[in-house]
Amino acid sequence: MRSESSGREMGCVRFSQQFVLLSWICAALSMFTPSQCSHMKPILINFGDSNSDTGGILAGAGLPIGLPHGITHFHKGTGRLGNGRLIIDFLCEHLSLSYLSPYLDSLAPNFTSGVNFAVAGATTLPQFVPFVLDVQVRQFIHFKNRSLELLSQGSKNLINEEGFRNSLYMIDIGQNDLLLALYASNLTYQPVIEKIPSFLDEIKLAVQNIYLYGGRKFLIHNTGPLGCAPKELALHAHDSSDLDRIGCLRVHNDVAKAFNKGLRSICKELRLVYKDATIVYLDIYTIKYNLFAKYKKFGFKDPFMACCGYGGHPNNYNVKATCGQPGYNICKNVSSSIVWDGVHYTEAANHVVAKGILSTQYSTPPVKLEQFWGSA
Ligand SMILES: *[C@@H]1O[C@H](CO)[C@@H](O)[C@H](O)[C@H]1NC(C)=O
Ligand SMILES: *[C@@H]1O[C@H](CO)[C@@H](O)[C@H](O)[C@H]1NC(C)=O
Ligand SMILES: *[C@@H]1O[C@H](CO)[C@@H](O)[C@H](O)[C@H]1NC(C)=O
Ligand SMILES: *[C@@H]1O[C@H](CO)[C@@H](O)[C@H](O)[C@H]1NC(C)=O
Repeated sequence: MRSESSGREMGCVRFSQQFVLLSWICAALSMFTPSQCSHMKPILINFGDSNSDTGGILAGAGLPIGLPHGITHFHKGTGRLGNGRLIIDFLCEHLSLSYLSPYLDSLAPNFTSGVNFAVAGATTLPQFVPFVLDVQVRQFIHFKNRSLELLSQGSKNLINEEGFRNSLYMIDIGQNDLLLALYASNLTYQPVIEKIPSFLDEIKLAVQNIYLYGGRKFLIHNTGPLGCAPKELALHAHDSSDLDRIGCLRVHNDVAKAFNKGLRSICKELRLVYKDATIVYLDIYTIKYNLFAKYKKFGFKDPFMACCGYGGHPNNYNVKATCGQPGYNICKNVSSSIVWDGVHYTEAANHVVAKGILSTQYSTPPVKLEQFWGSA
């Protein structure tokens, strides 16, 4: 614990010194050559699962994810699992970017702000959705190659070589691997722990490959408190000894924490090897756990109740009438729920999480989102 936190401080100091120096050089130069230091255009390139899927599973598998998903913001199904915007949408808004088109969208995608390879259900290791992390990275390599080829032939509105170099590569994956491993082991800790290194190896390999193809800025999300999800609480019979102090399933959260600890050290290891890269580890777990632990502070009610589902207290989750299936109901005030459909967070919760990310309090090193492109 101690050595990790001092490592974190060191990384932070090193980065901010570099940053201060860079800003100073920029400021000095800008007196003579203003255009040289005008900051780069932000571009986001994302890999992941339903947490950040902005339409990939809809485009790629034709899974009809329609209303009530999207009911609060988009007022139609976009393929996002949730009532509205996802965390990644709020990050785009913060950077004044349009929302990311899924790579798989074959009808009028817009790749000027970046591209999204995330697909709901995706895992690090092959399971049931074909778009595993390794495939998403291969799609990226093809995407880059094809974009550059098309640009050289005169196409417009695609990411160029400089754009790819300056893109922020975000990865948010692993929760589905952990859940499947938990189910396979009948919620036993040890067998899941034994599989975690194989999940982490895939994430490490993804960073290595993206680096090899020119990526230098990374934002690696850790995984959330899986044991606080209404679906998990509803599906797995439990007594109070299975729950932690706030009422989440302990084994789920313990494996999530073990995964996160490993992910944090992989980021640290990669930072030592790729000295010209910025690799930020993002503690989504703590942000999300605080939503449940201090729900009143954030204006939420009934933290373990799905807003959209069936069955009422305690979880409003029934596998036979999940959100969107015949029989479901929607809570009166979606903004007072943390979880939308038993698994995915509401727009209101995603907004709080995005603000937590932007605060840099949960980032190691604490790089501000806009700092990735050289503006303070
Ligand atoms: C694509 O998005 C960019 C940036 O948001 C916007 O300026 C442009 O008009 C869009 N292009 C099309 C064809 O919609
Ligand atoms: C794209 O891929 C083709 C075929 O694999 C290869 O010949 C070409 O050099 C690649 N182009 C770039 C810009 O990487
Ligand atoms: C799974 O675990 C529960 C509680 O530990 C136990 O009651 C149940 O019999 C187990 N089921 C199987 C299939 O092992
Ligand atoms: C819904 O909940 C939010 C968050 O607690 C609250 O700010 C808002 O006033 C509520 N709206 C209604 C109509 O009760």
